[in-house]
Amino acid sequence: MNTILTGDRPTGKLHIGHYVGSLRERVKLQNESEYDQMLIMIADTQALTDNYGNVQKVRDNVIEVMLDYLSVGLDPKKTIFFVQSDIRALPELTMYYMNLVTLPRLLRNPTVKSEIKLRGFDDGEKGVPVGFVNYPISQAADITAFKANIVPVGEDQLPMLEQAREIVKSFNNLYKEVLILPNPKLPENEVCKRLPGIDGSAKMSKSLGNCIYLSDTEEELKKKIRQMYTDPTHIKLEDPGHIEGNVVFTYLDAFCTDEHFKTYWSEYKNLDELKNHYKRGGLGDAKIKNFLFEVLNDTLKPIREKRAYYEQRLEEVLQILEEGTKTANQIADKTLKEVKDAIGINYFENSNYLKELINKGEK
Ligand code: TRP
Repeated sequence: MNTILTGDRPTGKLHIGHYVGSLRERVKLQNESEYDQMLIMIADTQALTDNYGNVQKVRDNVIEVMLDYLSVGLDPKKTIFFVQSDIRALPELTMYYMNLVTLPRLLRNPTVKSEIKLRGFDDGEKGVPVGFVNYPISQAADITAFKANIVPVGEDQLPMLEQAREIVKSFNNLYKEVLILPNPKLPENEVCKRLPGIDGSAKMSKSLGNCIYLSDTEEELKKKIRQMYTDPTHIKLEDPGHIEGNVVFTYLDAFCTDEHFKTYWSEYKNLDELKNHYKRGGLGDAKIKNFLFEVLNDTLKPIREKRAYYEQRLEEVLQILEEGTKTANQIADKTLKEVKDAIGINYFENSNYLKELINKGEK
């Protein structure tokens, strides 16, 4: 059985970095027959671990992320969407896994480490909330509750997968082979692993204000491409241009196909030809930016249209999430029962507890 599970924190609308890094791949996976099941989780509980004082942001973005999912073509007939806080087995599984992990181990997690710094939890006397350091354990519960063996994630999530694998091994060793070992699945294309922001900084991030959102209008897209960072040494038209670190070319690497050249810029056969001309000099940024607009808009236009469709049908969107959450609860409940049986904390229904007591009494 091949089960895919992945998720996103609802802390903002999804952007084109999410698209090339994971959403595009998810749409492909949902249509491949070698996978039996795909589950996609809106990780609101996890989002609260560093947004506990800003619940409204999380609340607002649950629906936004759901709209983003549907608009890129993820299909509720094939994929189970659910919301983390409504899965009752997750906190309970987390509780049992907490016994299998030490505090120093959690604090060694490189992603958690850098997030602690980033969020100022290491500042003076403030300290790190227990819920925050604990989130890798809770993420192991997300993954194992559904017996996922494939977890599509970005590179920053590899430490979480490592932690989940350790928990699975400890649990299965200590109690019984119940949990499935998960494997991360990274995007194959190097540029898609981390798309830079339009300002050229390493990552697209809401707080830096350098994102292109899936929900951006055509005008917003145009404006952002106009502002986009290119090659600061490419001043006069005849100057040779540089590709490395030039965001326009990075985005073309992630989105453009030979087909786009046929349709929008037949002077060139492919991206290599365009790059070579740019490097030689004599090619201005504005022309390339116009082309990039066509390429990006080609992907974003149908997404925008689908989003507008679902924005008019919020009740239906919420129903999809509710239905998916029901199904997810059934799966996770079953795993929780197996986990409790394996540990031996089952005293009533169909347990051998009474028999044990009677046997002991007879000895
Ligand atoms: N930590 C992930 C992120 O920040 C979100 C997430 C929560 C997740 N639980 C998960 C991803 C389980 C994959 C599997 O993007």
